[in-house]
Amino acid sequence: MPIRFILNGEPCEESAVSPSMTVLDYLRERRGLTGTKEGCAEGDCGACTIVTASARDGGLDYEAANACLMLVPQLDGKEIITVEGLAEQDGTPHAIQQALVAEHGSQCGFCTPGIVMALFAFHHSGDPVETEKIHDALAGNLCRCTGYRPIVDAALTLDSPPADRFARESGKRMTSIQGLALSDSYEFDQENFHAPPSLEELVRLRAAYPDAYLLGGGTDLGILASKDRKRLGRVIWTAQVPEMARIERTETHITIGAAVTYTAALPLFEEFYPSFANLIRRIGSRQIRNLGTLGGNVCNASPIGDTPPIFLVLEAVFIARSRRGVREIPAEAFFVDYRKTALAEDEILEAIRIPLPHPDTIYKAHKISKRFDQDISAVIGVFALTIRNGTVEKARVAFGGMAATPARAVKCEATLEGAPWNAATANSAGAALNSDFAPISDFRASGDYRRRIAANLVRRVFEETSNSTTLIDVMAL
Ligand SMILES: Cc1cc2nc3c(=O)[nH]c(=O)nc-3n(C[C@H](O)[C@H](O)[C@H](O)COP(=O)(O)OP(=O)(O)OC[C@H]3O[C@@H](n4cnc5c(N)ncnc54)[C@H](O)[C@@H]3O)c2cc1C
Ligand code: FES
Ligand code: FES
Repeated sequence: MPIRFILNGEPCEESAVSPSMTVLDYLRERRGLTGTKEGCAEGDCGACTIVTASARDGGLDYEAANACLMLVPQLDGKEIITVEGLAEQDGTPHAIQQALVAEHGSQCGFCTPGIVMALFAFHHSGDPVETEKIHDALAGNLCRCTGYRPIVDAALTLDSPPADRFARESGKRMTSIQGLALSDSYEFDQENFHAPPSLEELVRLRAAYPDAYLLGGGTDLGILASKDRKRLGRVIWTAQVPEMARIERTETHITIGAAVTYTAALPLFEEFYPSFANLIRRIGSRQIRNLGTLGGNVCNASPIGDTPPIFLVLEAVFIARSRRGVREIPAEAFFVDYRKTALAEDEILEAIRIPLPHPDTIYKAHKISKRFDQDISAVIGVFALTIRNGTVEKARVAFGGMAATPARAVKCEATLEGAPWNAATANSAGAALNSDFAPISDFRASGDYRRRIAANLVRRVFEETSNSTTLIDVMAL
C-alpha cells in the first residue's frame, strides 16, 4: 500500500521511494524543498527540523522532528510542514519569520530554517511563552555564530498559539489528516516496511522475520540510514499498535507502552517522579524526545542510556510478548551484556510497568555530561532511598556509564541499608562503589573521573536531602 501524508497542505501518495530513504533526503532530492538543511545527519544540529502534525485527543498536535532520522514511511497518516509551507497565502512571511527579522535573530541560512521550525512547533505546543521554555525548545538547534539572545527575544514577542493560518484552518487540517488511510505494509525495490496495526500482527511479523529491524522512533536506528547510508531491507514499525502507545494507571502501578515517546511520558514523570522528569527533559532535544521511545532506549541497552537506571531503581517489570505468550522480566534481569537484552529472537518489548512512588522514599536522578543540553551521559546516578526515623531502611541505587551494562550498585546499597542517613554513611556508600564498579576510560570520561563523580553523587543526594546551602545547581548559575 502507498504511504499517504499531507505536505505543506498538499495531499501526497508515495509508492516509489525506498523505505530506507530519510525524510530529509526525500524533501530535498525528491520534492526540491531545500529549505530543510542537512548539517550533521545524526540528530544533533537541528538544521533539518520539520514539524509533524497529528490528530490527537480532538486536536492537532504539532511536534518538531529531525528529518534526518525519520524514514519516509514514518510520515504515513501525518501532515508535514517545512519552512517553505509557513508563509501566509498572500506570501507574507509567517509571524515567527517576521519576528526573527525584527529582532535581528535571522542569522545564517543554514541554521535559521531549523530554528524557525522549532519555534513554530513551540508556539503551537501550548507551552507558556517563557524564556526557560524557549531555551528548551531551541536546545536541539545549534547556532555557532552570534548566539541565541535575539532568537529568544523574537520568540518572546509572539503569542502561543500565534494567530496564523494554521490556527485559523485547524478544523480543516484535522479533517484532512483523519481522512488519510494508513498503510500497514509498504514495499519498494525488494525492501519492506511493515506498520502492523495490532499486537497480534506485530508478534506474527517478529516471528516470521527475526532479522528485520524493529523500529520505535528511529533515533538510534535512523542513523544507519542517515549516516551509514544503509539499505535496511525489512523494517517492522511498532508505533501504529495502540497497546504499544498506551499509558495505563492503576492504584499501585503505571504501565507504559514501549512505543510511548519521551514527550508523551514526560507529564507522567513530572507528576510522580519529578527528579526523573528532570533527567528525561535532558535527553537529546525536543526533536529527539518527540521521536524517541522509552522502549527504544531500554532495548538499545546502551550502558549510557538515561532511562535504564531509573527502571532498575524502581524495580520495574519489562513485559515481553511473542506468539508464544507474555513474559515478565524484572529490570535487573533485562540487561544481560553490553548492548544485549534478555529478549528472545521472536520477542518484542510490549510495555514497562513501574510502581507508583512510595511516600517515604526519596527519588533522585543525576546526569553528568559535558553539556547540560543535548549530550550523552558520562555517568548517570539514580537513587531510591526509603528513610525512616533517620535510618536508611531500603536503598536502590543504579548507575549508567560505570560498567558494560546499566547496573545496580549492590555494595553501595548494602552500606546504606540499616545505617543512619548522615554524611559519614554517604561517604562510605560512595567508597563502596569502588567494589561495585571498575569503570573504563573513554572519550567521554576517564575511569577515575567516573569513580569520583559517582561517589560525589551519593554525597550530593545526602546534601540535597539535608537542606544544605552549599549545593550548586548548574542551571541556577
Ligand atoms: C541527537 C541524539 C541525542 C540523544 N540523546 C540521548 C540522551 O541524552 N540519552 C539517551 O539515553 N539516549 C539518547 N539518544 C539515543 C536515543 O534517542 C534513545 O536511545 C531513544 O530512546 C531510542 O528510542 P527510539 O524509539 O528512537 O529507538 P529506535 O532507534 O527505534 O530503536 C532502538 C533499538 O531498540 C529496538 N527496539 C525499539 N523498540 C523495541 C521494542 N518494542 N521491542 C524490542 N526492541 C525494540 C530497536 O530494534 C533498536 O535496536 C540520543 C540520540 C540522538 C540521535
Ligand atoms: S541534519 Fe543535524 S539534526 Fe538533522
Ligand atoms: S545561525 Fe547558523 S551558525 Fe548561527
